[in-house]
Amino acid sequence: MELLNIQHIEKYYGSKSSLTKAIDDISFSVEEGEFVAIMGASGSGKTTLLNCISTIDRVTAGHISLENTDITTLKGKALNKFRREKLGFIFQDFNLLDTLTAYENISLALSIQKKPAAEIDKAVKTVAEQLGITEVLQKYPYQMSGGQKQRVASARAIVTDPKLVLADEPTGALDSKAARCCLSVSSTSTVSAAPL
Ligand SMILES: Nc1ncnc2c1ncn2[C@@H]1O[C@H](COP(=O)(O)OP(=O)(O)OP(=O)(O)O)[C@@H](O)[C@H]1O
Ligand SMILES: [Mg+2]
Repeated sequence: MELLNIQHIEKYYGSKSSLTKAIDDISFSVEEGEFVAIMGASGSGKTTLLNCISTIDRVTAGHISLENTDITTLKGKALNKFRREKLGFIFQDFNLLDTLTAYENISLALSIQKKPAAEIDKAVKTVAEQLGITEVLQKYPYQMSGGQKQRVASARAIVTDPKLVLADEPTGALDSKAARCCLSVSSTSTVSAAPL
């Protein structure tokens, strides 16, 4: 079944005198459970594409649908609900909250959803075990290695069991074994950006 549909999207930054065409007419679709890798040189528009799908950024033209809902027109509460319930995002620079431990970073989204504490605890521990970060759960980001931070960021993205995981170069700081592990624990659809 088709999950994500991208129709002729364009994203321009700046205005006439200094226009950057970060995305220039891209269309593709992603099936449920499918893993899609977006590859391209630095500056080719990978992060921009993921940010448009995640609604962090707005497309200049075109349409993006998830489960047949056009997400380019969502606003307010509907937009927040979509981000919270359907999406997991792994940022290129991790974006962990410095004042929270790994455990708190991973559990935050579930806490916001007001899930029961026991359920949250079980979900965090399960995903931490899958990603091999059980021993860093009580550490703060500054106390973790780059690869550990990356795995915590991955855990945070998949712990809510989202429909779609968007991963911006999620394995840059990992050895190949940890990278395979990180990308295979989620059975949801994944769009992942990677450098050339
Ligand atoms: N806010 C912005 N304002 C103006 N130009 C921008 C903005 N964000 C990105 N760009 C430009 O859009 C283009 C695509 O950038 P993007 O970050 O999507 O590339 P990328 O493929 O993710 O690169 P990298 O592999 O280095 O992460 C670049 O030329 C960049 O300079
Ligand atoms: Mg990028």
